[in-house]
Amino acid sequence: MSEEYFSDGKIFADKEVLRSSYIPENLPHRKEQIASLTDVLSTTLKRKTPSNILVFGKTGTGKTATVKYVCNQFEEMARTCNYALIFINCELFYTHHRVLSYLARFFNKRVPVFGWPTDAIYSEIKEKIDTEDRYVVVILDEMDKLVTKEDETLYKLLRINSELNKARISVIGISNFLPSSELQDQRSSLGAKEIIFPTYSTDQLKDILTERVHKAFNYSALDDAVIPLCAALATKRNGDAKRAIDLLLMAGEIAERTKSKKVVEEHVRIASKKIEANSTVRVVKTMPLHHKILLSSVLMLTREKNERYFISGEVYYMYRRLCDHLGAKPLTQRRLIDLISELDSLELINAVTVNRGRYGMTREISLNVPEELIQPVLFADYELKTLSNFSIKALK
Ligand SMILES: Nc1ncnc2c1ncn2[C@@H]1O[C@H](COP(=O)(O)OP(=O)(O)O)[C@@H](O)[C@H]1O
Ligand SMILES: [Mg+2]
Repeated sequence: MSEEYFSDGKIFADKEVLRSSYIPENLPHRKEQIASLTDVLSTTLKRKTPSNILVFGKTGTGKTATVKYVCNQFEEMARTCNYALIFINCELFYTHHRVLSYLARFFNKRVPVFGWPTDAIYSEIKEKIDTEDRYVVVILDEMDKLVTKEDETLYKLLRINSELNKARISVIGISNFLPSSELQDQRSSLGAKEIIFPTYSTDQLKDILTERVHKAFNYSALDDAVIPLCAALATKRNGDAKRAIDLLLMAGEIAERTKSKKVVEEHVRIASKKIEANSTVRVVKTMPLHHKILLSSVLMLTREKNERYFISGEVYYMYRRLCDHLGAKPLTQRRLIDLISELDSLELINAVTVNRGRYGMTREISLNVPEELIQPVLFADYELKTLSNFSIKALK
């Protein structure tokens, strides 16, 4: 067989292993969390008082993967029992009403999307669940995406056991944020067990990747520098394991497309730039209007003036010119100061506070993303369209 035959598709052994739907058989550095979750579920299974569990940790710390892994094991343990496992992603079911309707439907009670108040649905669910002696585990993933309002229904769900005679329920709530202190009272009254998922270190990410590549890549298709680099880049992104795995997948695809024999550092760097660019585009696209106008101001200045940075006064002036051009009512300077900080923390601009002697404190602002990346995104916004024929020079 020719050399070419071998180099074709030689990189990956099984690409699926790198997709987000894949549940790994082994979760390095999550032993403690697995043990805690298993402990709660198995004691409840033995007819003890059920507990709720709250899981906290940043994006990509393995919360979803770990809970799913434990639930799979639980299904084995519970094979001879009457139980139900219900997994709800609150990114899709983002109101209390939707969550409860979903639960009601799970127990064969159809509820109209509109019209029924949540406490009526809650009563229905309670009645349905309690018709049998069973153990129900409800997993609320991405719980922080729930639109909270003042609705207490979900908190009622967490306390439902005291109102049940036959059935028992454990709710596992998964959140990307530690709850605010206002929720402290509510939390302690729930008596839920809290499990924290700490951020992964670079070494831990290396272990996770090493485990994964054995299945995903063909033998010797990865240069030794690849895993450490993916781990290091993901560490800068809050130790997000998903980012680390995405980098591997994309680097592998780039290597494949360029018919390389091995994935090397360069492929990872290209992949990283692409992923960063995609996330920048996503952020810019979904920003509110005045964030976009402000970012456009910095973009215009960068494009038409040959300077590295601009002082805040210049940017505000430009912003007001653009608002004028667009027929939008400008925000107050106080509000703009906040917006500058927000764009800075989104890493779209750099805003450095400097002391300019008798002129006092000001901020030096520069664009932190490529002009050619964000300009099309900004100008594609219907409300900003006419900026494409705006020119600073014409103003002077
Ligand atoms: N300890 C681990 N071992 C193996 N893979 C992991 C581990 N932690 C996270 N992952 C993987 O990283 C990705 C992100 O994990 P996920 O559980 O979705 O994070 P979270 O829900 O905390 O945002 C998934 O592909 C998951 O399989
Ligand atoms: Mg998750």
